[in-house]
Amino acid sequence: MSDSIHPASTSFTDAANIKPDDYERLYRESVEDNAGFWGRIGERLEWFTKPTRIKDVSYAVEDFRIRWYEDGELNVSVNCIDRHLGERGDKTAIIWEGDDPADSRRISYRELHAEVCKLANALRNLGVKRGDRVTLYLPMIPETAYAMLACTRIGAVHSVVFGGFSPDAIAGRIADCGSKLVITADEGLRGGKKVPLKKNVDEALTRAGTNCVETVLVVKRTGGAVDMQMPRDRWYEAVVDGQPEACEPERMGAEDPLFILYTSGSTGQPKGVLHTTGGYLVYASYTHECIFDLKEDDVYWCTADVGWVTGHSYLLYGPLANGATTVMFEGVPNHPDIGRFWDVVDKHGVTLFYTAPTAIRALMREGEEPVRKRSRKSLRLLGSVGEPINPEAWRWYHEVVGDSRCPIVDTWWQTETGGILITPLPGAIPQKPGSATKPFFGIQPAIVDAEGNTKDGATEGNLVILDSWPGQMRTVFGDHQRFIDTYFKTYPGRYFTGDGCRRDEDGYYWITGRVDDVINVSGHRIGTAEVESALVAHEKVAEAAVVGCPHDIKGQGIYAYVTLNAGEEPSDELRKELVQWVRKEIGPIATPDHLQWAPGLPKTRSGKIMRRILRKIAENAPDQLGDTSTLADPGVVNSLLEGRMNR
Ligand code: WT7
Repeated sequence: MSDSIHPASTSFTDAANIKPDDYERLYRESVEDNAGFWGRIGERLEWFTKPTRIKDVSYAVEDFRIRWYEDGELNVSVNCIDRHLGERGDKTAIIWEGDDPADSRRISYRELHAEVCKLANALRNLGVKRGDRVTLYLPMIPETAYAMLACTRIGAVHSVVFGGFSPDAIAGRIADCGSKLVITADEGLRGGKKVPLKKNVDEALTRAGTNCVETVLVVKRTGGAVDMQMPRDRWYEAVVDGQPEACEPERMGAEDPLFILYTSGSTGQPKGVLHTTGGYLVYASYTHECIFDLKEDDVYWCTADVGWVTGHSYLLYGPLANGATTVMFEGVPNHPDIGRFWDVVDKHGVTLFYTAPTAIRALMREGEEPVRKRSRKSLRLLGSVGEPINPEAWRWYHEVVGDSRCPIVDTWWQTETGGILITPLPGAIPQKPGSATKPFFGIQPAIVDAEGNTKDGATEGNLVILDSWPGQMRTVFGDHQRFIDTYFKTYPGRYFTGDGCRRDEDGYYWITGRVDDVINVSGHRIGTAEVESALVAHEKVAEAAVVGCPHDIKGQGIYAYVTLNAGEEPSDELRKELVQWVRKEIGPIATPDHLQWAPGLPKTRSGKIMRRILRKIAENAPDQLGDTSTLADPGVVNSLLEGRMNR
């Protein structure tokens, strides 16, 4: 059943940017002459100096390099704004939809240009120079887009920290990249609730390692009271006021850093994924145009927060580089009621809609009525990202949201990949519910076994990518060796994605989920190691082990096993306290769904925790525990199985 095939309607296909016959041919060309292909695609951007050296890549550990369009020079803000002023000056660049439905604004490309230039001038006056890092901790408001683009105008490297992260998490990210300036808001507003952003920044800046920050710019969003510490803190409004509405863009090398975005891995602290200027923008814009079948009059809405990579590539940079109209939504799907998404679709005439399976499942649970009550006639394409979409949710999305009329692009990619790698091209590749289908142009996926042997035909194993693409991350900020070790050591000469994957007899790819110690909660990555270190930082905790468990809405939930220090007694109060503790240490997205007391953890004789067993207990699959004979104390398994009842 889940293998049912859904080709796009002929009316869609006839008008599609990529037609059914084009895919195979273009794909073949793109891998046979990869540099030639990307050289041609690179011409879509406006360069100060056109690149002549298109591709210089080696994945060999001893000779490692990834360089695209190396001798080209360009500026991202020029490509996203100035370039469109001639023909699209009055076109809406950003439709901002506030948390309160009465609150919305349209910002034209011309206005965007003025706002970005004013802020870029202000940042320069504050001493921000090319290459400096700027941390953004902001809600979904127009100033956030201005801030990202203003950084690119002067060659500063932004690091956006999601507004749901805690002061400690902000501090860690500021310290890691040595930010000189932070931009935040007094408070955020989501679902009618206020989020104390400035207060969190204040707290973060009392932590070790954050004295690199010289200035904090504060956007007034709610007008709530904040503690302005002079001379460090400045109102955004005051510093941009009176600035010239023009600003000379910095000429950036294609391989100069564009932004850093922190993401969780299987070990240690989050990594600062670094993307560079030329290749990233070529890849984000080209994939956006092909995969979303972008046309001049489309109104495109990606519901992701700019705190995640989707908000970078497919809310801001891809769409604006393409001269599109992009919707930026401050609120949440269920405020003021569960029909909000479809109200916004109708209000702004959204044609292309991109969201996450977790949102679809949450809406699906509320039934069809709130959806059916809204027209949604403007919609012509739907997208999904963040985790595998289960076929039931796919069908509901297709039939109810899209009235069986809109193709669905199930787009597989990662923070590290900068843009989408596996996806249907909506007019060219028939969809199968639950499959990300086929590789995008230039992308060569392969499936390998644990030893790294390539597996051909219909098969299952670990997903690797054989060759580079322009949007690939270039390094882990400040730790190039960690970059190479994480992605290119497991399977030498290949990029290891960390995902498991099945390929069917039609050559369709089905992502089966992470094969490392990363949990995908509502499409957001949480490292088990991060939650464990937050737990053991509590004075009463001796040891903790964290695994993912199935969750109806979130896809995966967080399941924590906690061993208390000798003399500490488990209690419901302590359980609540520890759950709160993790929320405070990392942020609400890392809230454990289950916390089970563990008198002992299943360990090998060498002391390694056997997570496989903990995962099976969390899944309540005691019959699938596998071999437990190598455990130092096989008895702990039974006590954990019994303890499961009480969590
Ligand atoms: C991980 C990357 C890419 C932006 C959002 C998440 C999972 C993502 C899909 C999909 C199956 C998916 C993978 C991947 N994932 N999209 N369409 N189908 N799995 O970015 O936080 O870097 O997470 O999300 O497991 O490795 P991210």
